[in-house]
Order: sequence, then C-alpha cells, then structure tokens
Amino acid sequence: MNWCTMLYMWLSALAAGAVMLYVSLKFLSPYFWEDLNYFMRRIRFKMRITRRASKGIHSLTDMFMLQVQKTPNKPFIIYEGNVHTYQDVDRRSNKVAQVFLRQEALKKGDTIALLMSNEPDFIHVWFGLAKLGFVITFLNVNLHSRSLLHCVNTSAAKALVIGADCLGCLEEEFIFQLLKNNIGIWLMSKSSSFQHVDTLLDKLDNVSDDPVPPHLTAQTSMINTALYIFTSGSTGFPKAAVISHLKILSVCLLFAQCGAASQDIMYITLPLYHISASLIGIGGCIELGATCVLKKKFSASQFWSDCTKYNVTLFLYIGEICRYLCHQPKNEGERDHLVRIALGNGLRPAVWEEFLMRFGPIRIFEFYGATEGNIGFFNYINKIGAVGRVSIFLKFLSSFELLKYDVWKEEPVKDKHGWCVKTLKGEAGLLVARVSPSTPFDGYAGNQEASERKLLRDVFVKGDVYFNTGDLMLIDQDGFVYFTDRVGDTFRWKGENVATLEVAEVLGMLDFVQEANVYGVSVKGYEGRIGMAAIVLISDQQFDGKRLYKHVMDFLPRYAQPQFVRIMEVMKTTTTFKHQKGHLVNEGFNPEIISDPLYFLDEHVKSYIPLTKEIYRRLLLEKIISNKQNDGQNDALMMVQNKHIRQIPAKQDVM
Ligand SMILES: *[C@@H]1O[C@H](CO)[C@@H](O)[C@H](O)[C@H]1NC(C)=O
Ligand SMILES: *[C@@H]1O[C@H](CO)[C@@H](O)[C@H](O)[C@H]1NC(C)=O
Repeated sequence: MNWCTMLYMWLSALAAGAVMLYVSLKFLSPYFWEDLNYFMRRIRFKMRITRRASKGIHSLTDMFMLQVQKTPNKPFIIYEGNVHTYQDVDRRSNKVAQVFLRQEALKKGDTIALLMSNEPDFIHVWFGLAKLGFVITFLNVNLHSRSLLHCVNTSAAKALVIGADCLGCLEEEFIFQLLKNNIGIWLMSKSSSFQHVDTLLDKLDNVSDDPVPPHLTAQTSMINTALYIFTSGSTGFPKAAVISHLKILSVCLLFAQCGAASQDIMYITLPLYHISASLIGIGGCIELGATCVLKKKFSASQFWSDCTKYNVTLFLYIGEICRYLCHQPKNEGERDHLVRIALGNGLRPAVWEEFLMRFGPIRIFEFYGATEGNIGFFNYINKIGAVGRVSIFLKFLSSFELLKYDVWKEEPVKDKHGWCVKTLKGEAGLLVARVSPSTPFDGYAGNQEASERKLLRDVFVKGDVYFNTGDLMLIDQDGFVYFTDRVGDTFRWKGENVATLEVAEVLGMLDFVQEANVYGVSVKGYEGRIGMAAIVLISDQQFDGKRLYKHVMDFLPRYAQPQFVRIMEVMKTTTTFKHQKGHLVNEGFNPEIISDPLYFLDEHVKSYIPLTKEIYRRLLLEKIISNKQNDGQNDALMMVQNKHIRQIPAKQDVM
C-alpha cells in the first residue's frame, strides 16, 4: 500500500467520522447515549437472571439465602429502631418454616394467605412459607370480611396467617366461615379466644431455627407461580394476579436500574401487600444487598426526621406521599438528608417541581406498570411529568401500541375492516401490549373469564393477542410517555384502584337502590379521582343517607366509599347496555349546574347529607385548608372531613 492510498483511506475515514458526528448531533435524539446506556443495562440484567438461573438461583428466596451467606451481619430490616440483620431474618423465617413443616395437611405447592400490615414478621412469615415451597397470597388489610373471604377462596388458600393488629377489624363470622371451609387460621399471637384457631408466636419461641430440607425450597422453574397479589382489575371483586418467580426477579431489579447500590438505605412506608413495597422494595433490597427502614404507615411529619436519623438514601413513593410532604409546614434542616433517589408512580408535574425545589436534588424515577401487566415503562431521564420513555431500542424488548379509543363508546376505534387503529405521535391512545412467550400475561388465579377480559384479540391481524392495560397514554415527539387517564371501570384514589362495579354491587344490596353507577370525579389539586355514585331509587322509596353511610362503612374499604351521591331519575346506558359514565364524570358534583339531588358523605354526622351550594364552595376552598393538614397518615378523605366543613349546621333542604 503506498502512502497515497493510505492518505486517501485516512482522509475518507476522517470524513466519514465527521459526517457521523454531524448526523448524530443533527438527527439523533439528545438522549441517545442515555437511551443506549439504559438499553445495555436492561440487557445486562436480563443476562444476569439467566446466568444466576444456571447456578440454581430461581427465586427470591434463593437470592435471599445467597445474600445471607455473603453479608450475614448486615442490617436488612430496621423497624421501630430495632435492627434485624440478614441472618436474623433468615433464622426467624426458618422458625416459621419449622412450625409449618409439622403441619401434615399442608404440602409444597399449596397456597397460604397472609393478612398482615407492615412489620418484620410480614417478611419472616413470607420467607418462611416460601422456604417450604408454598405459594403466598398477600391480602389487602383494608378489605372487608366479605371481600377477604372472596380473596381467600379464589386463591384456593389452605391456610391464612393473620397479623395481631388485623384481627380487630375482622368479623367473627369471617373466622367461622373460613373454619367451615377447612381453611387453617393462624394468629400472630401467643393465645387466642377462638376455638380451632392456631397461634404462631408461641410456637416460634419453641422451635429450632434450623434450615428446612433444601428440596422443599428449591424451585425447578422460574415460570412457576410464587405469589398472588390482589388488584382491583377492571371489574368485580379484587382479582389475584399470578406472579411468577421470573416476574419477581425482574421487578426486584428496578432500584438497581436507578443506580442504587449495596451501601444504600431504603425507606419503605407503603403497604407490603402491594407489589411495589414487597417486590420493588424488599426484593430490591435483597437484590442490592442493602438495608431497609420499614415503617408501619406513612407519616408525613416523621418522614424527613426518619430519613435523617437512619441516613436514608432511597425511598419508594406514590404521588400522594410527595404531595403530603410538600404540604408540611417548612422545617429547618429538612434539606439535611442524604436521600438521592426516589422511585414510584403517580407524581404530578407541579408537585414534582415543588418537591425538588423544596427538598433538594433528588433523582426521581417514575415507572409505569400494572401488577398483572406484561408491559412497563421507566423514566430513567428523570423528565418531569413523564411515566416512562420509549427509545428506539425499547422496541426490541417489548411490543406495545397505542390504539385510538372512543371514550364515549368505551371501546377502541375500528377501521372499515374491523381492525384497531394506531394513534399518531403525540395523540393519546389505549396502551396495549402484545402477549408472547417473552412477554406473557399470567392472568388471574381461578378467574379465566376475568383473564380473558383483559385481552384484546384480532387487533391488527387475525389471531393476534394483546394485553389491554385500560390506560390511555400519550407518547410525545421526544419519546416520553405520559399517563392521561384510566378508561372504563376503575379509577385510582389514594394509591388504590377502586373497582366501580364492585362498589356498585355493594350499593345495590340496599333495598332502596334500584341501580347504582359508580365513577371517579377529579377534585382540583388532588391526584386520582374521588368516588361518586349515581343512584336510581326504587319507585316510592326514599333515599336514606344514614343507612347508606352505615352500609358503605360496613362493606367497603375506606378508599372505595363514594364521597358523593347523585340521585337520578333514570340511568343512561350505552348501546351495549353499559352504564354511561363519561358525561357524569364531566358534570362532577357541582350543585350549581346539576339539578339532581346531591349528597355527600359526612363522617361527623355519620350520614350522607345534602350537598348544598355552600358546602360545595367550602369544598373548593379546601385546597387552602388542606395545606394545613399535615399527616398523610390521617384519613384518606381528609379533604372533605375537615373541621371547617363539619361545623356547617345541618339545616339542609334539597329534597
Ligand atoms: C417446647 O415444647 C415441648 C413439648 O411440646 C416442651 O417439652 C419443651 O419444654 C418446650 N420448650 C421450650 C423452650 O419451651
Ligand atoms: C449516619 O451517617 C453518619 C455519618 O456517616 C454516621 O455517623 C451515623 O452513625 C449514621 N447513622 C446511622 C443510624 O447509621
């Protein structure tokens, strides 16, 4: 090769480089490198799971035991000032396993339900049972006996472990019903006044902490079911989402994707029976080998002092938590914390900005994903307001689409051949994700029909199958994903999904109610939607606010109790005989424009009282009043139960 050719090659390489540089600056997304970095990380994590599987790590329990070997004396859970090391948790969970090992009626693969609020024993029982190869069902402690019974039955649980502080809320009838169905009941106490009910705490004192035989713990396949976690999907009672070991191991990696490490200290205030606190939180801690400060309940007034006291560096949130924190009176030293990463969902842009301004440069990672879903988004750029990001690479990992959606008919728009239509960029549409072997939909336990309802078939071609998230999303020009609304039969309030049909069913049990249509209305300044019920009365029956109040208190969890009631002459239905909700949602609860009688739930007088124009005006003022309200721990519906409203004399007229 002569120098001339060499120079030529050298120059052309230089030119090509310059063109590449120009092209990348001009046409590539400004986030190109971050996108690539995130993509590579995702791939690495995927490979990590596979690599571990080849070494016999198939479950969270396996991961936990590995971590116990690595760092036995490292604090794992800190609860009310007490430190539980990895080894402590391992030993106590062994004790739980030893107790259940002696139960001949229970064997590997059986399901055991867990009804406990946040405390270390939640984790001990969970891991102890997992070590015996049981499938574990987490139950929401806010549910009423009727719903709980349904949950225990659908997950086919053979036994139920009840936390000491949950017992008080249960009806005796519930216990008897379970016993009648041959479901073993275990109380987290030393003694019990019930006959045929076992107690666990006393037995833990008198059993060895030896590991159980490894063949019981071993999972042969990662696609086996590990957990049932209840979600209020779109219709009816809560449904048990099937969670495989593989799903757990993937979800546990979320904090690692934010750049968290083993030195980090995580703060968990969300309930453990949700996937977020249990898997992203506790599971994430195990994945990192980090420490978790666990709290019984979120308390806005103790939040930052806890963070400072324990050197917290990470926390999990739902949007409401950040809002409560912003509403706290300013404290000196509230920025003297070490928190660097917050992970969660539901944070609105305005709160997000305020939060950063006030509490300092914390990297906030929003994610999107349903417990049972096969699609998730992750906002690794920390772009304010976005729930995720779609890069050119992400398409390799999952296959999703946004479909044009008719909110009035409540169904996807079809073209003239009957196929669904994709939205244009920047346009909101229904998020659906293709069901395939690599993005499976595991469905709901014992409810084939509900599982099927979450699927859309023949979307673009005959025979294709998509998971319907029920969420309207939007992707902007830069590829950021925004949540717009939830369609159909659920709405979110205080971090819980409210299934409108379930609430309607409960209201329908009253003898003066002919028909009930439940929906969520937005209230200015609040995340989510607050419950409202339109009710048609049985002819010549009167509305009875006191009885309705007692009824919803008895049968519905706090977050699902309708705050507003609208009495209607007739209920409009869609062409498919579903209740129309769209116009009701839009009309909201304003007595200035609605001529139908309106009522609202007043805790103070323990009744639904007429919603007058005066109460309405005070409700809107609430935005200012609730700023003074400083503990998110207080009741979910504090906005309407504020003292100022309670003092309104109940001299009302309306009907
Ligand atoms: C455990 O129970 C056995 C009999 O059930 C009893 O003999 C033993 O003393 C108990 N041990 C302790 C530490 O309480
Ligand atoms: C928090 O960090 C400081 C400084 O590194 C240390 O002195 C203190 O002991 C830590 N506190 C806890 C509870 O770990």
